Amino acid sequence: MKLWGGRFSKQTAGLVDEFHASIELDQKLYKYDIIGSIAHARMLAGQGIITEAESGQIINCLNEILADIENGEIEFSVELEDIHMNIEKILIDRIGDVGKKLHTARSRNDQVAVDIRLYLRDNILTIKALIKELIAALVELADKNIDTIMPGYTHLQRAQPVTLGYHFLAYAQMFIRDYERLTDCYDRMNCSPLGAGALAGTTYETDRHFVADELGFAGVCLHGMDAVSDRDFIIEFISAAAVCMMHLSRFCEELIIWSTSEFNFIEMDDAYSTGSSIMPQKKNPDLAELIRGKTGRVYGNLFNILTIMKALPLAYNKDMQEDKLPLFDTVDTVSNSITVFIDMITTMQINKKSMSQAAKTGFMNATDAADYLVKKGLPFRECHAVIGRIVLYCLNKQVAIEDLSLAELKEFSDKFEEDFYQNITIEACVNAKKSAGSTSQSSMVEMVKRTRAKLISM
Ligand code: ARG
Repeated sequence: MKLWGGRFSKQTAGLVDEFHASIELDQKLYKYDIIGSIAHARMLAGQGIITEAESGQIINCLNEILADIENGEIEFSVELEDIHMNIEKILIDRIGDVGKKLHTARSRNDQVAVDIRLYLRDNILTIKALIKELIAALVELADKNIDTIMPGYTHLQRAQPVTLGYHFLAYAQMFIRDYERLTDCYDRMNCSPLGAGALAGTTYETDRHFVADELGFAGVCLHGMDAVSDRDFIIEFISAAAVCMMHLSRFCEELIIWSTSEFNFIEMDDAYSTGSSIMPQKKNPDLAELIRGKTGRVYGNLFNILTIMKALPLAYNKDMQEDKLPLFDTVDTVSNSITVFIDMITTMQINKKSMSQAAKTGFMNATDAADYLVKKGLPFRECHAVIGRIVLYCLNKQVAIEDLSLAELKEFSDKFEEDFYQNITIEACVNAKKSAGSTSQSSMVEMVKRTRAKLISM
């Protein structure tokens, strides 16, 4: 008989058990379910709702069940629906009537809410640690490539020379924000729903604060009905994860482009590339493509949970059982993506020569050429026009600005002097940048230092 079978006079219909059950997915929560139950049993005894002996017996048995699950000795049953009822049934089978007392002053609604909060708390910490590792790897790469010059792009058109270190450090800032979003999400969700009961509270003299302390929560969720019907924290977590995946996906897209023969800026390590079943010469950046693709999965998970929660009346509704799939899938996808990504970028080869070669073409020193004329006293708009005409002249002649003779330059403006040439080398273009947060070496040294300090504080 079902644990809730009392008021029923018929068995559930054929497909119903399977359709209704969540055990296939939520067995992942076994450890958190048991930890939550142990805290609850302690509280029940502390408040005199059950005896110390009964509580001890329940806790011992729960610990045995935990060990048995971990040793693969337990087979869960679909008829028992979910992890909560599976564990409770095993407990009752093992210790009889005492086991039946565990569910006093508790509902599966507050039980599942506490389980997923405990699960997510642990996993947010793991993901944060991975993000931190990624940021650290990026700072090291940035430092190593502080003078690796490459083309900087806007509209994917060559714009101004930057350094690869500068490019890497931009991503480090995005991942710092991802880390902070997760911290924020963690802090907001770190309260205990246990003791809220089904929706209205319970008639027992429980101590929700004791349970919250036992489980390491910062406090209790204030409002019982909110505590059991809230899944905002899952939505917040998946949104933070979606933004993080978006950042990974932008980065992956760049790595994919950079790996083409057309760019040839990097080469993925063999261990992080795959071949083609028909074209023997192929080496594909599949992992970067997959991370880019898996970003779609996480966006889908976000829409999934938002749609599940949309228009749900208070308090608990069975729809909410469907929260597990998007939650678990997001945790796995984002963790694996970050892990693979770190390995990929720390093993890839950087072709500094191709990068600096590419930075020498495409008139990327045109802005600096205009700035030169500004320093010689012309208003910027006028300088822009002069250099524009020079670029057009060069395009027809198929040469670079620096290939023109001083006499040719003077045809466009009498402000040009011999010092022009040293002002428009790509090194000069990079290092003459003076604004805070620029690509110049001195600014990069400062940003690397500050990002390292940030890492220590994280
Ligand atoms: N398996 C359920 C879930 O994941 C547990 C809560 C069930 N509560 C209920 N009133 N049926 O949401």
